Amino acid sequence: MNILFVCLGNICRSPTAEGVMRQRLEQAGLAAQVALDSAGTAAWHQGKPVDPRTRLAAQRRGYDLSLLRGRQVVVEDFHRFELILAMDANNLRDLQAMCPAHAPAEVDLYLRRYGLQPHEVPDPYYGGEEGFEQVLDLLEEAADRLLADIRGRL
Ligand code: 4NP
Repeated sequence: MNILFVCLGNICRSPTAEGVMRQRLEQAGLAAQVALDSAGTAAWHQGKPVDPRTRLAAQRRGYDLSLLRGRQVVVEDFHRFELILAMDANNLRDLQAMCPAHAPAEVDLYLRRYGLQPHEVPDPYYGGEEGFEQVLDLLEEAADRLLADIRGRL
């Protein structure tokens, strides 16, 4: 199974989603069966490391995001990934606009898909430190639900 997490810049929310989920899969012994990646709808941070504030907040909870690098979503992603999970409604809209008509990917809003409130992961980029903690809180909750979904599919 292949899952792609998508936000705007690919330096805060979607790398966090990827790192949290990777740890959950490793703990569940499922890392070999599910490939994860993340990408941004914008190209601004292509090739760049994860935002230092995001990296630090993640590190404090035991997630290492130091090896991840930013990249932009490409049309081939809709053929490579079965599940593409957007962090907010703008990301979802942008993904839907570029998704080829007969691509197999299922594109959805991550938190809403798993019955969580709020439905969107708020963009922490221009805010304070608490925003990065909230991103982690939401994405840890979502990862547990995604793991249950994956177990049901494998
Ligand atoms: P992300 O956060 O979409 O969670 O990676 C952002 C990163 C960068 C910018 C905006 C949001 N930016 O404007 O550069």
